Amino acid sequence: MPKYIAVAGKGGTGKTTVAANLVRYLAGREDGRSVLAIDADPNSNFGEALGLAPRGTIADVLEETKQTKELPAGMTRQGWIQYRLSQLVEESDRFDLLTMGTPEGPGCYCYPNDLLRGHLSALGANYGYVVIDNEAGLEHLSRRVEQEIDVLLVVTDPTARGVRSAGRVTEIIRNLKTKVSDSYLIVNRATSGGDLAALDGEIERTGLKVAGTIPEDPAIREYDLRGTPLTELPVDGPAVRAMRELFARLPL
Ligand SMILES: Nc1ncnc2c1ncn2[C@@H]1O[C@H](COP(=O)(O)OP(=O)(O)OP(=O)(O)O)[C@@H](O)[C@H]1O
Ligand SMILES: [Mg+2]
Repeated sequence: MPKYIAVAGKGGTGKTTVAANLVRYLAGREDGRSVLAIDADPNSNFGEALGLAPRGTIADVLEETKQTKELPAGMTRQGWIQYRLSQLVEESDRFDLLTMGTPEGPGCYCYPNDLLRGHLSALGANYGYVVIDNEAGLEHLSRRVEQEIDVLLVVTDPTARGVRSAGRVTEIIRNLKTKVSDSYLIVNRATSGGDLAALDGEIERTGLKVAGTIPEDPAIREYDLRGTPLTELPVDGPAVRAMRELFARLPL
């Protein structure tokens, strides 16, 4: 069984940054376990952060196969959908990418929800780790097409409002009845070692364990500005180093 790790949090807090660095970290581990990155944000940019171009999205395939009138001879619609879904994984020698895309209005996934769940579960079984970069609105998570989550990482900025919002995100996910084994808070863009102490009370109220802090690091902004994959950041930079130390402490 793969380990499912979901990254969630308020908009712009650093989910994609954390998820991309986690994919790189896991893919570089000596255990040789393979990694599937899932972009579950309709504004899909996980691929860019990872230096991989999506081959198309689940949403596109579902829409396209819904409209296909003439199926290949001897193929059921379900078989056709499964075949088209199976072509969506973009592979690299270190990790693979699957992009969910934009669900078009409520109900877009309703018909094949079971099928999609079965497909994702069968696909995930080929990997050691599945890392899911979620959108702030948790659209895909709320459709429950994903598996149980082994480790939930909630990313926040170093503010009381941010931490409260992280608490709400966690609450929403708990209420979805998706089983979450372990949840952690990551405080990103910390400006000083004192940030955690100042936020102590707020953090306690969320019931989340603190995985650690990531410092503000101009290199990350710069890479994003230029569109350079985050997987190419030097491993000795302050933010990447902090993330790698933080990941090493998690039960992964
Ligand atoms: N530790 C950091 N130091 C400096 N800049 C950072 C840091 N973490 C994230 N950023 C910058 O903050 C912005 C948002 O980061 P990111 O895209 O990872 O957030 P997100 O939570 O995935 O956003 P969204 O909700 O839009 O998907 C980016 O421009 C990124 O470069
Ligand atoms: Mg993002």
